[in-house]
Amino acid sequence: MNRIFSGVQPTGNLHLGNYLGAIRNWVALQNEYECIFCIVDLHALTLPQDPDELRASTREVTAAYIAAGIDPERCIIFNQSMVPAHAELAWLLACLTPLGWLNRMTQFKEKAGKQREMAGLGLYSYPVLMAADILVYKATHVPVGEDQKQHLELARDIAGAFNRRYDRDFFPLPEPQIFGAATRVMSLRDGTKKMSKSDSSDFSRINMTDDAQAITLKIRRAKTDPLPLPSTIADLERRPEADNLLGIYAALAGMSREVALTRFAGRNFSEFKEALSELSVEVLGRIGGEMRRLMADPGYIDAVLRRGVERARAIAEPVLREAQQISGLLRP
Ligand code: AMP
Ligand code: TRP
Repeated sequence: MNRIFSGVQPTGNLHLGNYLGAIRNWVALQNEYECIFCIVDLHALTLPQDPDELRASTREVTAAYIAAGIDPERCIIFNQSMVPAHAELAWLLACLTPLGWLNRMTQFKEKAGKQREMAGLGLYSYPVLMAADILVYKATHVPVGEDQKQHLELARDIAGAFNRRYDRDFFPLPEPQIFGAATRVMSLRDGTKKMSKSDSSDFSRINMTDDAQAITLKIRRAKTDPLPLPSTIADLERRPEADNLLGIYAALAGMSREVALTRFAGRNFSEFKEALSELSVEVLGRIGGEMRRLMADPGYIDAVLRRGVERARAIAEPVLREAQQISGLLRP
């Protein structure tokens, strides 16, 4: 049986990268798979958070899932911390994970920055918790943006380590699903940096809740070179900012980069940007409006999460119990 698991951290400023790299793809998958979508609040704590903002952001991400088209009846939507099996399995897996594997993680190096000695243990062991998130449901497929690829490879290695240690096929090796025309959305200010929640420049990212005016202004100011759009993908790929904006257009329109490029080859950026703004406002305007409507009713959001927690526990707890049993922990 196929089962999907994925998650987003509730750390504020959900942006177009989160939408195009992850959430939008999930909407298409819910028809084919059993889907579990998590708001990974324990992961958010790997960096300092304001407690009230973390709670608000947990509801906001929930609203974004639903507003983007994820059906809370068909899918399980819940916040990670309310299912203790994640953290419990993470310990069992941590004991099987060599430090050498964690030392390779590039995201830790980026997030820890220069003060490596001051980085928290949680930030370092984060990929083990991520592996537990997936494995505690025996999920087979994990749809994410390109930046999570390395963490997913580690999750597969950790699943393999458990299976080998106890000499059985207990955990399936989860497959990454990285698809769409914008698997790595870059900053609007710098085509070599990914669009991120933590970028200090507001003009670097389009937020899922931005209104039409903000979206249009940000796209108008987006960095570009002076040439018109080229006619081949190879030429486009030599121009990171142009490549990024075209990828965004293609993903929003649900078409390939190639098809999008034939539409705009030879056109000037002013014309292309106008079309991109119009499309972005159309898609995000609808989702942002729905998010605001949902967030005005926290009672509804909490009810969705409570129901999700119940359904998630019903799957995770038996898997954890079996993993504990296999590991030799006594259940007296
Ligand atoms: P995060 O914001 O780190 O919790 O990421 C949540 C999901 O969004 C993950 O699947 C990421 O891979 C995806 N994501 C985050 N930033 C980007 C980006 N700039 N481009 C594409 N996908 C992204
Ligand atoms: N690490 C992911 C991110 O920052 C979020 C995440 C946590 C996740 N656990 C997961 C994604 C399990 C997929 C599956 O984007």
